[in-house]
Amino acid sequence: MTVSGLPLLQGYALRLRAPARADLPKLFDWYNDPENVAPFDRFSLDTAESFEAAVLAAPDDPRSLAPRFVVERVQDGLVLGFVGHYQPHPVLETTDVWYVLGDRSQRGKGYGKEAVGLLVDYLFHEATLARVGATCDVENVASYRVLEGLRFRREGTLRSALFHHARWHDVLVYGVTRPEWAEAPRSLNPTLVPAP
Ligand SMILES: CC(C)(COP(=O)(O)OP(=O)(O)OC[C@H]1O[C@@H](n2cnc3c(N)ncnc32)[C@H](O)[C@@H]1OP(=O)(O)O)[C@@H](O)C(=O)NCCC(=O)NCCS
Repeated sequence: MTVSGLPLLQGYALRLRAPARADLPKLFDWYNDPENVAPFDRFSLDTAESFEAAVLAAPDDPRSLAPRFVVERVQDGLVLGFVGHYQPHPVLETTDVWYVLGDRSQRGKGYGKEAVGLLVDYLFHEATLARVGATCDVENVASYRVLEGLRFRREGTLRSALFHHARWHDVLVYGVTRPEWAEAPRSLNPTLVPAP
């Protein structure tokens, strides 16, 4: 099983590719790990079967919360995590990205930033979006540093918008506009390779 119709997004150290069957157990474990997911989303309530079905259906379901791309290291093919995006806003030309480096031993090496950069490039390339956004817990320093490193701007704070670890958390809102993204000096230069 491979999710069809998704391009390969080739970066420098990383590529983003469609999930394959062999990825699913690892992705499912990471997706159900509260440490990974609690800082920005609900805990998964999926079974392995419903998770697989959701990953397969994601390309045709704009509302899907399933991972869209696997994050894979170029040098050795190691799967490091996954990224996705929420459904486009029903009226506004914007959508939010989300990202997980499930392999904790590989954090802090710039992979998160490269993976999110590839995803944002893809979204601006594929859709007529005017803005790409992201939200994160005010305490999730690693997450907002990734965004700020990619020239996302902090736009505001949603108060008490996320519940985890027995209390409500404020959530930061970040965004980058299409012209800002085009003009930002970046070390990334991803190449979109069409799906076979
Ligand atoms: C957020 C996450 C993807 C970051 O991935 P990463 O590969 O470790 O991040 P990078 O190595 O690309 O680091 C990017 C920036 O964040 C900084 N950073 C990374 N981890 C940090 C930490 N724990 N504390 C403070 N800063 C940190 C880096 O120094 C770097 O800053 P710089 O650009 O100024 O040098 C990863 O921590 C993760 O998967 N967390 C759990 C899931 C999650 O919270 N996702 C975000 C949802 S909103």
